[in-house]
Amino acid sequence: MKDNLPIQLTPTISWDKGILKILDQTKLPKVEKYIETSDYKEVIEAIKRLSIRGAPALGCAGAYACALVAYKCNSLVKEAFVEEILPAWNLIANARPTAVNLMWAVNIMKKQLEDYLENTDWDLIETRRYILNCAKQIHKDDIDRCDNLCRHGASLFPDNARVMTVCNTGGLCSGGIGTALGCVQYAHAFKKKVEVYVPETRPLLQGARLNTWELERSKIPYKLITDSMAGSVMRDKKIDLVIVGADRIAKNGDAANKIGTYNLAVLAKHHDIPFYVAAPDSTVDRNIKSGEDIPIEERPSAEISSYLWPDKVYNPAFDVTPFELIDTIITEKGYWK
Ligand code: MRU
Repeated sequence: MKDNLPIQLTPTISWDKGILKILDQTKLPKVEKYIETSDYKEVIEAIKRLSIRGAPALGCAGAYACALVAYKCNSLVKEAFVEEILPAWNLIANARPTAVNLMWAVNIMKKQLEDYLENTDWDLIETRRYILNCAKQIHKDDIDRCDNLCRHGASLFPDNARVMTVCNTGGLCSGGIGTALGCVQYAHAFKKKVEVYVPETRPLLQGARLNTWELERSKIPYKLITDSMAGSVMRDKKIDLVIVGADRIAKNGDAANKIGTYNLAVLAKHHDIPFYVAAPDSTVDRNIKSGEDIPIEERPSAEISSYLWPDKVYNPAFDVTPFELIDTIITEKGYWK
């Protein structure tokens, strides 16, 4: 893991002596409170209620939750151990459907465990330790991937860049320094002048609550706007680029991200503004041909309205932006086009 990051890591998720510590994002920006747990079911609940969220962070949380399962399982027989943990690992993988990083991380854990058990004499304590190390490795890799992709992303920023983004894609969305907002923070750390226009990102306000918290911490100038202001702000404030994250990118480059992302891509096209997607390669799902095959999570109606007709609410949490509207997908490996 690199220890020379140009900006400070956000304390989003960490493991200490059998306890998983998660910064509870539902309480931000007013309260910085941590969930500390050794129970994988609590991690699943935290994922469902978005106490931890953002595609790469979900991968890290999923991997550590797998380790929590292993540490609770006392089976002294190898086959019984595997039989007991796998159903719990499957529950973790399916806690949220759109961000592929969650199932990607659990699948890596499964594959590595299978290889390990095939090639090693069975020992419960050693197997648990191995599983935890796999989870820590996924977290470390995430830090490196984010660092590399943000270096690539930051180099696309002109000086004096007026930037628009959506949702939260800084350190809170990953185990590392984040994706799209991480690129902004790196550009700032590399002494480029940047100003960020932050749409609230209804209904859960990841922009208003989480991006503002991160931008305040990194002392980057920003203005909070409502989602419906995006078009006129792009025109009137002469936005130079739009940069967003992704929850799942299909093989053809179509990218699912927070609801409202597609609107920004269409508006950016109209105003001739470059539209960038920043995401680690762990967000690319090569089993899925196009955006049409990406499962879109529908969230509870109460998130939108508590008025009288909750059954008349439609609340998709994500939308898909076709590759043709994306100028470049930035990953840790470089630029997709
Ligand atoms: O519902 P959320 O808050 O988990 O949605 C998160 C996003 O849409 C982010 O933009 C996405 O995970 C990208 S972070 C690389």
